[in-house]
Amino acid sequence: MTLTDRYAVFGHPIKHSKSPRIHRLFAEQTGQTLEYSAQEVPAEQFRASVAAFFAQGGKGLNCTVPLKELAWSYADHKTERARLSKAVNTLALQPDGSILGDNTDGIGLLTDLMTNHAVTLSGIRILILGAGGASRGIIAPILEQSPQTLVIANRTIDKAVKLADEFHDKGSVTGCGFDDLANRQFDLILNATSASLSGQLPPLPADLLATGGVCYDLAYGNEPTAFVRWGQDNHAAKSLDGLGMLVEQAAEAFFIWRGVRPKTRPVIGLLNSERQA
Ligand code: ATR
Repeated sequence: MTLTDRYAVFGHPIKHSKSPRIHRLFAEQTGQTLEYSAQEVPAEQFRASVAAFFAQGGKGLNCTVPLKELAWSYADHKTERARLSKAVNTLALQPDGSILGDNTDGIGLLTDLMTNHAVTLSGIRILILGAGGASRGIIAPILEQSPQTLVIANRTIDKAVKLADEFHDKGSVTGCGFDDLANRQFDLILNATSASLSGQLPPLPADLLATGGVCYDLAYGNEPTAFVRWGQDNHAAKSLDGLGMLVEQAAEAFFIWRGVRPKTRPVIGLLNSERQA
């Protein structure tokens, strides 16, 4: 008897996760047979829940807020990009029974920006708002694209400065507070604060975005986020949310687990049309 390969996303809260839908669409499209469920797992139950999942034959897990750092500690070994980001969103059972930890968030963002939206990062001025886990995961992949400058601005200035210091050997990156953004301009502004979902925005000077610049909110919602609206109000050439990044990071996880790369555009298109409906 062959059992269907099982996958899941763990998080807290997890009810509104789009991951089961995305992975089922990928499976259908690529002709793969698998199950993918969403499981509510509070941080204190993380280790026991992951151990039980793999002990019962599970093949791979996605981990989301607030479990990515715990998943990083749990993994027996990690990819270089996961090691740098100190967070893991994908756990994969290996043939020898060990658990590999990877982080596909950074590549998910880059694929969405560069492939889906034709944004070139090399030589441009990039600003990241926020210095938490979401920022940490995208710094190294962005620096690999050789931007002219990368600035991390945060409410708690010290955190931005420390985070930038950690990556200084990978390229030109500095940390600062929001007040230091006066009289500066950027070609790409990424919002990696957790403020956007609650409708809040960091204090941003009106002329922060260069002419023809792009805004990208790592968060997404059925309605435009506060930051997407800020971009629209400040003449962004494109003001995007993180739905594309979500689908792209999922595609990368799917590839790690199944060795098959699903087409992402039809899935992004479908989810976009569903939220507009
Ligand atoms: P995540 O893992 O999603 O990045 P986090 O590690 O808690 O979550 O980080 C949240 C980020 O959003 C932080 O940079 C936080 O700023 P502080 O470091 O000063 O706390 C930022 N943030 C949250 N609410 C904010 C708000 N209302 N205005 C500006 N920044 C905010």
